[in-house]
Amino acid sequence: MTRHVPPGGLDPLVEAGHEIVSSENDAPYSPDELRDLAPGVDAIISMLTDQITGEILQAGASGLLKVVANAAVGYDNVDVASAHRLGLSVCNTPGVLDQTTADLTFLLILATRRQTSTAEADLRDGTWKGWGFLDHLAHDIHGATLGLVGYGRIGQEVARRAEGFGMTVLHHTRTPTGHPGYVASLLSLIEQSDVLSVHVPLTPETHHLIGPEEFAMFHPTSTLVNTSRGPVIDEDALVDALEAGKLFGAGLDVFDGEPAINPRILTAPRTVLLPHIGSATVETRMNMARLASQGVCAVLAGQTPINIVLG
Ligand code: DGY
Repeated sequence: MTRHVPPGGLDPLVEAGHEIVSSENDAPYSPDELRDLAPGVDAIISMLTDQITGEILQAGASGLLKVVANAAVGYDNVDVASAHRLGLSVCNTPGVLDQTTADLTFLLILATRRQTSTAEADLRDGTWKGWGFLDHLAHDIHGATLGLVGYGRIGQEVARRAEGFGMTVLHHTRTPTGHPGYVASLLSLIEQSDVLSVHVPLTPETHHLIGPEEFAMFHPTSTLVNTSRGPVIDEDALVDALEAGKLFGAGLDVFDGEPAINPRILTAPRTVLLPHIGSATVETRMNMARLASQGVCAVLAGQTPINIVLG
């Protein structure tokens, strides 16, 4: 275990009789420590903040290591190709965090459209001098069009919530989904959307997927939300677009290079910023840890886990 998890999250491992090793104070292991520890363990349960490199996997494969279970649905931090080349299994935690992440996404959609962070800051710092008919005017959610970039499990949960709020929902993926609301062109989706919400994994193809060309298609009243991975958005292009008024606002839960934050993002206008808390509820983190543990147990028992990462 590279980090601590909520009580109950490791029960499958305990019940199967496995010994669990983790740092005493929940401090992350350094890359060197991970490399040195890897050969001595049968499995690593990693977090999205651990870079599980080819070097660490190679060291592990020269010893006992058989499986890396990333306690996240995204696994861009694991060198999956190297793992597979070395005969190691990789697991992730799909499914168990969809609703929680969709809830947080919707929170960002609401907060960004209504600019609640700016309004609250005005109240807290004394800028607010009283109710004003023209103060804190933002944009409606009901009647707006939501464009989903990516239409996997989390995107579809966001769509369900949006329908309850009276939004029209469109989506774009590289291959047609066959579902109503499919838009073949990303630029056209952006043009048609009042809210764009990003739900794609980070891959070489999705790095800076939303950049200057895409920001040119936003409207002065439209908003962007990202709860996927920071590098999917070109943050400098986003700040340029916000400063130029090309879009109304942005709600971000993820950042390129987090926990370091591009200083331009911190001072950009009309943003709602959260520290990567998409799946951060006790219940969901417990379920993620359990699923990662179950994946480890299955691999160590010679079975194929339901949460195996293929390819
Ligand atoms: C994931 O699972 O990939 C999330 O980013 C964790 O919250």
